[in-house]
Amino acid sequence: MSATRLRGPDLLRAVAEGTAGAVGEEFLRSLVRSVAEAFGSKLVFVGEAHDAHVTVVAGYFDGEFIGPFGYDTEGQPCALITEYPVVAIPEALTAAFPEDVAAADLGLESYLAVCLRASDGRHLGHLAVLDSRRMEAEDDDLAALRIFAARAAAELERRAQAAELEASRARVVAAADAERRRVGRDLHDGAQQRLLAVSNLLRVARKQVDGPGRELLDTAAEELQLAHAELRELARGLHPVALAERGLPEALASLTAAATVPVELEVSDEELREPVATAAYFLVAECLANAVRHASARGMAVRVQRSAEALEIEVADDGIGGADLTAGTGLRGLADRLDVLGGRLSLDSPPGAGTRVRATIPL
Ligand SMILES: Nc1ncnc2c1ncn2[C@@H]1O[C@H](COP(=O)(O)OP(=O)(O)OP(=O)(O)O)[C@@H](O)[C@H]1O
Ligand SMILES: [Mg+2]
Repeated sequence: MSATRLRGPDLLRAVAEGTAGAVGEEFLRSLVRSVAEAFGSKLVFVGEAHDAHVTVVAGYFDGEFIGPFGYDTEGQPCALITEYPVVAIPEALTAAFPEDVAAADLGLESYLAVCLRASDGRHLGHLAVLDSRRMEAEDDDLAALRIFAARAAAELERRAQAAELEASRARVVAAADAERRRVGRDLHDGAQQRLLAVSNLLRVARKQVDGPGRELLDTAAEELQLAHAELRELARGLHPVALAERGLPEALASLTAAATVPVELEVSDEELREPVATAAYFLVAECLANAVRHASARGMAVRVQRSAEALEIEVADDGIGGADLTAGTGLRGLADRLDVLGGRLSLDSPPGAGTRVRATIPL
């Protein structure tokens, strides 16, 4: 590692060059490396604060990237950074902070940290520079560091927002699923049971009636049976009882058996987390419905199998093609559901050549 210590404008230029063009996660990595090189220091890291705990989201020690890892700030110089914009301890770090065992272990004796704040002033974490030798920091050096600290803060804020967005999407999907389950169960326990009761009444009534009235009762019974079948279909779409009770292969088997086009089904029996099995089920259900509604398909094939680290699902039909992810809510909703699970949806649907939907869900 170079021991040359750059200062003020040179420091600014070196770090600007070292981080030029880097965005997102990569920015933090290029930042810690170029600050470490410009300072000629042993350790540089960006820490994200969660009360008295810090997560090192990017670190560079002795010429190598380190982290992520976490530590508690109690008894550490980092505990001061919530109160000051800059904390500088040019030497004798371990004498001042005997509880900082890690600093002692790594032979770190000087410390410089710049506080990272969100746009609304919230404390987000800090950018820290540590070395084994005495470390002076002039105003110019600090000014340079603070420019990059502002960018690092923006990056931490972006990460937190992205994580929050992801969590909120997962909550939306979970809430929608819970609601579907509730409505599905209500249909099953309420309306479906009532229809059964009416159907029994009709049977009894039929035995007691003769003439034209009897025909009317027959028609009513047929209508009732259709209504019951439709309701059962609806309930199955909302809350796949079979999935929870008998697992994905059997749930898909009864789903495909009920389809109005012949479906070739190949599904391996895997231990799956509930959201993964649910996503796979709804994906197949939506693609079957689409093939029947839009594709004029004569046949379909559904394949669900496990690769090394993912569940691979493929649904193909031999219909008219031309499926469009942006034209409805069905495919879009599936893509969102997969996104929440870290999965991907891809659509291959050239006009006239059938439709193939592929999904990968990491396990
Ligand atoms: N298998 C298919 N073959 C041909 N076209 C399809 C197929 N699947 C979907 N499409 C086309 O892509 C569009 C979007 O499908 P999507 O499932 O997102 O919406 P939808 O089925 O129209 O409505 P819903 O929101 O009820 O699912 C459909 O309107 C249809 O035009
Ligand atoms: Mg659809």
